[in-house]
Amino acid sequence: MNKASDVFKIKNRNGVVVTFIARGGQVIGIEVPDRDGQVDDVVIGYQSVEDALAGDGYFGAICGRYANRIVEGKFDLNGETIQLDCNNDKNHLHGGVDGFNNRVWEVKPNQEKRFSESYKLALVSPDGDQKYPGELKIEVVYGLTEENEFVIEYNAVSSKDTIINLTSHAYFNLEGAGKGTVEGHELEMNASKYTPISGVIGTVTGDIADVKGTAMDFVDTKTIGEAIASDDAQVALVDGIDHNFVIDGYDGNLRLAARLNDPVSGREMEVFTDQPGIQIYTGSHFDGTETGKLGSPIVKWAGVAMETQIFPDSPNKEHFPNAVLKAGETYNHTCVYKFI
Ligand code: BGC
Repeated sequence: MNKASDVFKIKNRNGVVVTFIARGGQVIGIEVPDRDGQVDDVVIGYQSVEDALAGDGYFGAICGRYANRIVEGKFDLNGETIQLDCNNDKNHLHGGVDGFNNRVWEVKPNQEKRFSESYKLALVSPDGDQKYPGELKIEVVYGLTEENEFVIEYNAVSSKDTIINLTSHAYFNLEGAGKGTVEGHELEMNASKYTPISGVIGTVTGDIADVKGTAMDFVDTKTIGEAIASDDAQVALVDGIDHNFVIDGYDGNLRLAARLNDPVSGREMEVFTDQPGIQIYTGSHFDGTETGKLGSPIVKWAGVAMETQIFPDSPNKEHFPNAVLKAGETYNHTCVYKFI
């Protein structure tokens, strides 16, 4: 059995180091050299493992069983209405009060040649966990390649029909965590549509809207700051971006979803996934009261989360991708963060 505070590192020969802990599989650091070889930690978080355990439990964590929001925590499955525990106003967020980010995962070294180093994280979520049906057995591989790809592979099998949407919740700041905000970061998205939200609490309306002519248009690269500074009503609702983007050309194979670039350090990150959506969240709720890396306050827009996923509230939206995992079938999801 692992302890919550057990620390693991995966490294490659280029100086990239991913550090995570057993609690939540929380990625507490990713060290990446910049264009001059200077190394910075590009995920926001705390200065110690103790602070990570006491602080925001979503930082860098594996979220589930259903990441993102389910409206009123309710959905129908096989003719039965299931009421999940609600932890976000009257909605269910990131798997509920005791989500997978809060669990101590069983971590074992993984010997796969395609990775420089890798680990396998395992968790069993009992039948009825947060009111979800079925015992769910989850395995997640964290692997790092010599091409500077941090690969996250999820698979899961349930004993009964259930719903599932796992994701990883690291907030990136490619200049270096604690060095400022991501307003100057340039973002390009392979997404000509997104799912608008209906209010400050951020639940999706069910629409699939064109990004063209809105602040959400990152089809051509622009800075995150330009979107935040716009008077777009969707931005105003959440004081930034907290939206799911619909990945163009989704066919279940790995494809480029987004590219993030920091002109100051020259660091760039590409995000690949086989999932249909990606939530972009600019961390509007950070208020500077917590101390983060480099001893700096964790301020609004200090980082951007890029969470590959099925769309929010899919179990209640027939025209959204299917989030049902049938008993005995395998859920697979790959997300790759590639540092350039
Ligand atoms: C959501 C935000 C939420 C945050 C909590 C993000 O994935 O999109 O709305 O506040 O998680 O950490």
